[in-house]
Amino acid sequence: MKPTFDPTQYKITAKANWNTVASEYHYNWADKKIGPFKSTGEIVKLANIRPDDKVLDVACGTGVVSKEISQCLGPKGLLVGIDLSRTALGIAKGTISFQNSNFVEMDAENIGFNFKFDKVTCQYGLMFFPDSSKVLESIRKILNKDGMLVVAVHGLAEDVPYFSTIMKPILEYIPDIRPAGTPTVHRFGNPKDLESELAGAGFEHVTVTRYDHAYEPGTFEEYWEDYMHSTANSIRSKIQSHGQETMNKIKQGAQKNALRYEKNGNLVFPWTVLVASGINR
Ligand SMILES: C[S@@+](CC[C@H](N)C(=O)[O-])C[C@H]1O[C@@H](n2cnc3c(N)ncnc32)[C@H](O)[C@@H]1O
Repeated sequence: MKPTFDPTQYKITAKANWNTVASEYHYNWADKKIGPFKSTGEIVKLANIRPDDKVLDVACGTGVVSKEISQCLGPKGLLVGIDLSRTALGIAKGTISFQNSNFVEMDAENIGFNFKFDKVTCQYGLMFFPDSSKVLESIRKILNKDGMLVVAVHGLAEDVPYFSTIMKPILEYIPDIRPAGTPTVHRFGNPKDLESELAGAGFEHVTVTRYDHAYEPGTFEEYWEDYMHSTANSIRSKIQSHGQETMNKIKQGAQKNALRYEKNGNLVFPWTVLVASGINR
């Protein structure tokens, strides 16, 4: 029987996964402002944070967006970050010194506040929410009139080969690695899909801007090791259960896919990011 997608089980796995990888994610990627994290500053700039704003950072993770927001806020401002991962929230708490900040363990699909925010940000989170429309609708409800949402998502598979170079051969040899219907990182990678997702939730004046960054993971071996260790953390044991021969075939497939991105022995991946904004009228 083919496995079916179960949103609750998916979130339990996601929480455990982010608890495991949060530290490496923060110190090896997000905090270094490399690859897709070159957009972090753009999101905060677009949100035009004012000193007195109340700001919610949804799926704040280890707090790289929250940190930049906190630097725009004054003593009357408020910053709240929510995430599923307690470990990620712990890193955010430990690295952000702004006094009026709170980092809370909360599922974005069950946002509950008894006051409203002026701005909401969400960097690389929207695609992970099984019911993303429900999340956007609930964000609109906790935004003040004329309040603004800014989200960032990864581009399509062909525009973010860091993921697809290894994921394609994994899917070739283990098609049911994830139950059908599991959200993918590229889910809102098409600007039209992202725009209609925000507009469908009732946001007005929706804009989508494309950024084309680059990410250099080193040699193919370094890329493979890092990907299998952290990015593929939640599916690694399932891949390994198919045996060494399958693992070797996946690696060969990935190496072939990676060839076109090789420059002088190192890989240079393009990395498209979409940043969208919408207003709650
Ligand atoms: C790629 S990280 C992005 C973190 C942060 N926004 C950043 O830009 O570094 C994705 C985050 O989404 C969080 N997440 C996934 N599903 C969630 C949900 N349903 N509710 C809240 N957070 C969620 C994960 O725990 C993880 O920290």
